[in-house]
Amino acid sequence: MRIGLVGTGNVARALATGWSSAGHDVVLGSRSPKERAEADELKGFTLVGVGEAGAHGEVLVNATPGTASVDALKEIDPADLDGKLLVDIGVGFTEGMELSHPNYSLGEEIQAAYPETRVVKTLATVDSVVMTDPGSLEGPATIFLSGDDAAAKETTKGLLADLGWPDASQLDLGGIGTARGQEHFALLFMGVAEAIGSYGFGIRVVPPRTAS
Ligand SMILES: NC(=O)c1ccc[n+]([C@@H]2O[C@H](COP(=O)([O-])OP(=O)(O)OC[C@H]3O[C@@H](n4cnc5c(N)ncnc54)[C@H](OP(=O)(O)O)[C@@H]3O)[C@@H](O)[C@H]2O)c1
Repeated sequence: MRIGLVGTGNVARALATGWSSAGHDVVLGSRSPKERAEADELKGFTLVGVGEAGAHGEVLVNATPGTASVDALKEIDPADLDGKLLVDIGVGFTEGMELSHPNYSLGEEIQAAYPETRVVKTLATVDSVVMTDPGSLEGPATIFLSGDDAAAKETTKGLLADLGWPDASQLDLGGIGTARGQEHFALLFMGVAEAIGSYGFGIRVVPPRTAS
């Protein structure tokens, strides 16, 4: 599958590596591809402008700061967004590290700005290492999906499986409104990271014991 990632940071690079290894044709979209191509951490990646990444991808991925994502996506020709799956991983923070979307979510904001695009929020509850290496955890964790379009979520499930997330680990929360839960989990994420001294953890939904 052709994947156009928007962003060149930790998340974009980790996902580009993971999906390229799984056989996908991946490019990273930068606001300044020529300058960014000089950066050591971007050697070996295919770097293009954001608009080009939008044209390249059958699937687009938002890996930009949540406060900048809607503006960042404006560099893509609207025709290259219409009807496409946009996997959104962003979480927005203010300069004071408060949630930038406290009664809302970035996922909903992007879906409202681009009603013809099929937005699916996922991977926002783990760090960039665990995103692409869930096997680094002691046991299975849960990864969440939120989105209004069932087919778009099915495609996203396949892309998650390509990163090592088995079907049993994937939990569909429902419509894009449920992206709030994934994004607002960032507060607990930071608390847990502080408490255990690592970002490299996952969480697992433990269902009730079935009556025997
Ligand atoms: N890091 C994690 O483990 C993690 C986990 C879960 C969710 N997230 C979320 O995923 C998103 C990406 O995280 P990240 O760690 O990859 O972030 P990052 O390292 O800061 O990279 C973000 C990238 O977005 C691009 N960008 C576009 N507009 C921007 C703007 N106005 N200001 C700054 N950068 C801009 C930049 O690429 P160019 O300069 O090349 O355009 C930049 O490299 C964020 O929303 C974050 O909250 C991150």
